[in-house]
Amino acid sequence: MAEPYSSWWASGARPLLLSCALIALAAGGPFVLAEGIVFHVANRCPFPVWPASAPNTGHPVLAGGGFLVPPGKSRRVVAPATWNGRFWGRTGCSFSSNGAACLTGDCEGRLACNGSVGAPPATLVEVSLHAEPGRGSSFDVSLVDGYNLPVAVSAAGDPSRCAIAGCAKNVNALCPPELQVTAAGANGTAVVACKSACLAFGADAFCCRGAYATPAACRASVYSRMFKDACPAYYSYAYDTAAATPTGCRAQEYLITFCPSRWGGAADGAVAGAGDAQM
Ligand SMILES: *[C@@H]1O[C@H](CO)[C@@H](O)[C@H](O)[C@H]1NC(C)=O
Ligand SMILES: *[C@@H]1O[C@H](CO)[C@@H](O)[C@H](O)[C@H]1NC(C)=O
Repeated sequence: MAEPYSSWWASGARPLLLSCALIALAAGGPFVLAEGIVFHVANRCPFPVWPASAPNTGHPVLAGGGFLVPPGKSRRVVAPATWNGRFWGRTGCSFSSNGAACLTGDCEGRLACNGSVGAPPATLVEVSLHAEPGRGSSFDVSLVDGYNLPVAVSAAGDPSRCAIAGCAKNVNALCPPELQVTAAGANGTAVVACKSACLAFGADAFCCRGAYATPAACRASVYSRMFKDACPAYYSYAYDTAAATPTGCRAQEYLITFCPSRWGGAADGAVAGAGDAQM
């Protein structure tokens, strides 16, 4: 799949923190391992979410790669100061059977993804942490492979800093039939995720490949505009130029919130305003 800024991901930033830790170990003296960057992964959805993360090549797996966060709770995840990778949320998981365990974002049926990426469609938070002086960290949220949940990003304790807003509308409720991923639930069939046009149809014009592999040639479509209208801050297709991509971020702690605010659906108020209890 095309991803914005694939060149950053390949840039191979050195794991400085780990190097320091190794030097401290080699020195043999008593030392306290300096913490890297902290992500508070919060769930304000009125249902459980199983967040997951996968590192880019050369970076470590964080927190086993996946875990449960019940509604109204959050989990603290520590990353090396130069970590690169992605976070996403999984929904409708049951780990008792073989095969796919989650309705969306599944990673080979496992609770702890251990570095495996999730099955699309899933909303992706893309992270590029930098420790070098003069170069801050960067974030974006991508719907290039489709959508399953709304998510917001900011510096912890300062919602205006390094911020990527959630969605104004519930994409699953707007998703046209040809993009829908559905599952049988207690109240009949529900739309649980919405594919991108690239994922659904695989056409070069939607995937920004082949003759469409430049920003000038790969334009918004009726499908990407639907994503953009619902979630203006996210990448709606690979060469979307209007996404929020905070760069130069220097926070020590970040907040990644699934279902950050009301986004359609009667139960949304259920956890609004509840302080996130750390797990
Ligand atoms: C996790 O991945 C690493 C690296 O691929 C592998 O060595 C390890 O066995 C895996 N652990 C589990 C529990 O699958
Ligand atoms: C099913 O519908 C009922 C009545 O509208 C509602 O109270 C309940 O929360 C719904 N259950 C699910 C799983 O959506």
